[in-house]
Amino acid sequence: MNYTQFPYSRGRRLRTSENIRSMAAEHRLSVKDFIAPLFVMEGTKQKAEIPSMPDYYRFTPDLLLKELEEIQQLGIPSVLLFAKVPDEKKDNEGTEALNPEGLMQRTVRSIKKEFPELVVMTDVALDPYSNYGHDGIVRDGQIINDESAQLLAKMSVSHAEAGADFVAPSDMMDGRILLIRDALENTGFHHTGIMAYSAKYASCFYGPFRDALDSAPGFGDKKTYQMDPSNIAEAVKEAVTDEQEGADIVMVKPGLPYLDVVRAVKEAVSVPVSVYNVSGEYAMIKAAAEKGWLNEDDAMMEVLIAFKRAGADIIASYFAKNAARLLQSLPFPKGIPSGEGGMSKRV
Ligand code: PBG
Repeated sequence: MNYTQFPYSRGRRLRTSENIRSMAAEHRLSVKDFIAPLFVMEGTKQKAEIPSMPDYYRFTPDLLLKELEEIQQLGIPSVLLFAKVPDEKKDNEGTEALNPEGLMQRTVRSIKKEFPELVVMTDVALDPYSNYGHDGIVRDGQIINDESAQLLAKMSVSHAEAGADFVAPSDMMDGRILLIRDALENTGFHHTGIMAYSAKYASCFYGPFRDALDSAPGFGDKKTYQMDPSNIAEAVKEAVTDEQEGADIVMVKPGLPYLDVVRAVKEAVSVPVSVYNVSGEYAMIKAAAEKGWLNEDDAMMEVLIAFKRAGADIIASYFAKNAARLLQSLPFPKGIPSGEGGMSKRV
């Protein structure tokens, strides 16, 4: 008999009680892990629920500030902003993306004025501004790379001028991180960071997001710039390239179907790795919970801890607020179910 064998070795000892389990936990979620993605739209005093994302809203800039108060109180350190651009302002060159008085720029300025400590990140890609719904400029049916990347660099400077702490290019054009870093340095924005969507896959899980921004591609798909879901070595190459080009944070997106990619990227880079728990992943859990097929809170927390286990340092998630409430055992506002069984017993 050997102490590494049964009955001396019993895995169940460390699972005996909540306190022992919590001491033995290998990974932990913290509210400080989260980025809350937020959708902003033109107008005042309005919020609109996104049909394919129950309990998630687009806000006009004034109401967004109220939402941010709550986010700040919950201790969530960062937000990632997406602007819904009216159709009449969309064109092929994304002209509106560079407007210093554009929705994104105005929103960033007002947020930084009210909440200077909050880390404000902005999405940088042309799709919400493009009449084709593509992330770059279209010529002869192709999404052209270099001109698009130059434009994204200008857009990044415009967001930095408005006060963005990080720009988050989500377009997957080649070389754009270098061009963006270069443009930020040349305009004096030495401390504006870049969170690169490095391994962004051509995924069906972005569907609800495209509903939120009305940004679905008008022709074709995004497979000539977003990655093929069969690939993992390529994800590592993309992340390493972005790190070398000057990315401060690299991202893997979507999250749940790509946990292996998160792990591989984490082992290959020295910058923090973020993961985007995207709209379709949110919608799946919401839909199953609505049907009574899954417990929403349990499913959410199990998915979020999976990101930590896979190696993610930072998690962008539409569940950020609910997870923050559970982690702090705070009550939910009326209308949002806290889930039977509650997390207070389990965290
Ligand atoms: C746009 C962008 C997308 C998402 C973030 N930035 C959609 C797309 O590439 O079509 C998806 C986010 C989500 O699904 O939650 N460049």
